[in-house]
Amino acid sequence: MKVRKAVIPVAGLGTRFLPASKAIPKEMLTIVDRPTIQYIVEEVVASGIEVIIFITSEGKSAIENHFDYNFELDTMLRQKNKIELCEEICHVSNLIDIIAVRQKKPMGLGHAIWTARNVVGNEPFMVLLGDDLVLSDKLPCCQQMLNLYDEIGEAGESIVAIQQVNPDETNQYGIIEGKPTRAGVYLVEKMMEKPAPGTTDSNLAIIGRYLLQPDIFELLEKTSPGHSGEIQLTDALQALAKKRPMYAYQFEGTRFDAGDKLGYLKAIVAFALRHPALGKNFAQHLQRVCASM
Ligand code: UTP
Repeated sequence: MKVRKAVIPVAGLGTRFLPASKAIPKEMLTIVDRPTIQYIVEEVVASGIEVIIFITSEGKSAIENHFDYNFELDTMLRQKNKIELCEEICHVSNLIDIIAVRQKKPMGLGHAIWTARNVVGNEPFMVLLGDDLVLSDKLPCCQQMLNLYDEIGEAGESIVAIQQVNPDETNQYGIIEGKPTRAGVYLVEKMMEKPAPGTTDSNLAIIGRYLLQPDIFELLEKTSPGHSGEIQLTDALQALAKKRPMYAYQFEGTRFDAGDKLGYLKAIVAFALRHPALGKNFAQHLQRVCASM
């Protein structure tokens, strides 16, 4: 069954980015010239997905507004003959159909995804975390996963994107252990939530891109809240991996956790260096900064 829908949860509190995220959603913080969330929406659009489901919350309406048509702005820019800018702004509002569903309480990523159950229905779907950026020279990460899904072609498999991390950082990620099936692809055998360094031989960490089957909703419903009172996605993923094949895919590209201050700064540098108009000057500036240190 074709994957047509992508769920993007953006309802979290963003406590790692306080005080910046107190009144502005962290997903709206700018990376060079557009908010983080726009890169993620553009990745989804470039991958051929037809509908986006944002999981939002109170205080996050700026995200929906960013992708909406703004009549006053459009009129004002046209009156000032700023047609190019006007077209760029309209392009953002015409990218894709967006549905927004409210998560009434920030009860964790698992709960946020469960909130989309009635809109997703009985079909496979993508999940992209609203603060996880992937910069790729080849295909967008989401497209890479959809291609793998088509290639595997089994009925009802799921795919999680993974990257290698330093063995002393396993306690910051969901970690998988699996059997390699081909270069960069593993059949998941075990999944651990933030294992202490040294407790697993694996350093394959799950990042914020998932291709899931709708059975996940039933499994999320059965998942009890963890110690922080949040419903964890990893618990339901473990149950899903026991039910149906789950593959872990080492994508091509670099992932940035833009919901973390250092990750956000790294993303700005990477995206600025690749920017067609600013990249060269920015690289020269960075060289000067580094030389003066
Ligand atoms: P994070 O754990 O990075 O987001 O979740 P957070 O809870 O906002 O951040 P911190 O840890 O307090 O700084 C990854 C994605 O899932 C969404 C977030 O908005 C983010 O895009 N999320 C998280 C929800 O939609 N609902 C939740 O209850 C939790």
